[in-house]
Amino acid sequence: MMVLSNLSLSPVLTQLNSQILNPFGLVLNTKEEFRDLHLLSVAELRNLVWEHRFIILRGFSQLELEELSNYCQSWGELLTWDFGTVLDVIVQENPQNYTFTNGNMPFHWDGAFAKVVPSLIFFQCVVAPTPGSGGETTFCDTTKVWEKATPQQRQIWQQTKITYKTQKLAHYGGQISTNLVSQHPVTGVPILRFAEPLNEESVNLNPLFLEIPGLSLPERDQLIEDLQKRLYNPENFFAHQWQTGDILIADNHVLLHGRNPFFSHSSRHLQRVHIL
Ligand SMILES: [Fe+2]
Repeated sequence: MMVLSNLSLSPVLTQLNSQILNPFGLVLNTKEEFRDLHLLSVAELRNLVWEHRFIILRGFSQLELEELSNYCQSWGELLTWDFGTVLDVIVQENPQNYTFTNGNMPFHWDGAFAKVVPSLIFFQCVVAPTPGSGGETTFCDTTKVWEKATPQQRQIWQQTKITYKTQKLAHYGGQISTNLVSQHPVTGVPILRFAEPLNEESVNLNPLFLEIPGLSLPERDQLIEDLQKRLYNPENFFAHQWQTGDILIADNHVLLHGRNPFFSHSSRHLQRVHIL
């Protein structure tokens, strides 16, 4: 544990115990007297997200549904979906999409099919899975992937545009085409925008289909396989094991995220909000 010592930070933030995660991410553990999230400066927290890719706020009072949406609005405009602003990520009885199962979730960025890609994903863990039962949220820092790629690899990626198709059975769907390489709109760093197809271990429900114009099927498969090896390389990858009450705020531009599968008997309930 360490204490953030940056003198430019506000007094409350400097008093929290912080832990820098490897290879990226920051945990801020609060104290009994600072359990109210509103005591923290949003501007400072946002800068910490850009710097560390995601932050976990631990030990704060949980926010009720309306309070959660209101608090997130203090960060910026929210993306409104058919269901509103807060998505309950929980196993459903008759799911239309793999999000609402206990299966894995391949890497993706949020809002690919929405009118705007949100900058931040705000998660609140209402009920964490039982320890050892899986259900970690996985992250890849795509800037790290880019930094380690050879000039030849970068050149190939820069010429790659991917078409994604999925049926709109849950809250998202349609068809989009996106350049694999892009630039972070705030920090300016190079980022990769990529969504993996489901794999043989996934719950095969509402799959995503990928096409890469100009590549044959074997070439496409080779590019995807090579990319996946890099995304899951421990130097670029982090799996967050949830604790009930965790608040996790992630940079949706630089990171891709997914989920490890979890035992069907384990409960897992996250609430998710998109901040533009
Ligand atoms: Fe997601």
